[in-house]
Amino acid sequence: MSAAPELDSLRAELQEKGLRRAELLDDPFAQFDAWFEFAKSVNTHEPHAMVLSSVGADGMPSSRHVLLKGLDHGFVFFTNYTSQKGRELSDHPQASICFPWNILSRQVRVVGTVERVTEAESDEYFSTRPRGSQIGAWASHQSEVMADRSVLESRWAETDARFEGMDVPRPPHWGGFRVLPSEIEFWQGRQSRLHDRFRYTVDASQPIGWRIERLNP
Ligand SMILES: Cc1cc2nc3c(=O)[nH]c(=O)nc-3n(C[C@H](O)[C@H](O)[C@H](O)COP(=O)(O)O)c2cc1C
Repeated sequence: MSAAPELDSLRAELQEKGLRRAELLDDPFAQFDAWFEFAKSVNTHEPHAMVLSSVGADGMPSSRHVLLKGLDHGFVFFTNYTSQKGRELSDHPQASICFPWNILSRQVRVVGTVERVTEAESDEYFSTRPRGSQIGAWASHQSEVMADRSVLESRWAETDARFEGMDVPRPPHWGGFRVLPSEIEFWQGRQSRLHDRFRYTVDASQPIGWRIERLNP
């Protein structure tokens, strides 16, 4: 059987079963991890892809996919600090994330503040990337207008020649951000639009540090 019909029937099962308060884990990171591991285990396409929204100085939001590369007390991804998102997140360190696991009729939404990861963390992750991507991080002036593709390709070739025979160092303008959530919502699609939604909100008065509430769909 192909993967798609299997996922279709799994989606139908999840919609039937729904999400119950009693089965939620106290810690939203543990709950996220359970859903994330599940999405990976059933071979959804790029379950670590997430839509990240930042806000410009004029208040205009802007969204794009990035890849989740770390999960600790926040959601970590890597990018170019001088890109549009990099500049916006540095100037206005608040972000929203959405994991669009539509194939499972699920989504997870995160709202929070943003910090840069340490230089050591960025170095460590950069060192694991394929050499071509490392060179690409130097060659791409991410988000800037460019006359044509040859500009990028020649910059890539020049950078490749510059670092020939040596490890490619991490560009100073490239590194990670961590989104530190104040809210995490788990959404499970159900029949007749009677979806299940649970929102965890940071709340120091709660024994677990998070308040859990069911939301209308
Ligand atoms: C599935 C997917 C994953 C992506 N992952 C990243 C990523 O981890 N980091 C990144 O900088 N760009 C990533 N991109 C490209 C971004 O979506 C975006 O085009 C780029 O970062 C420039 O965004 P900006 O101009 O809004 O700053 C990804 C794109 C897709 C479709």
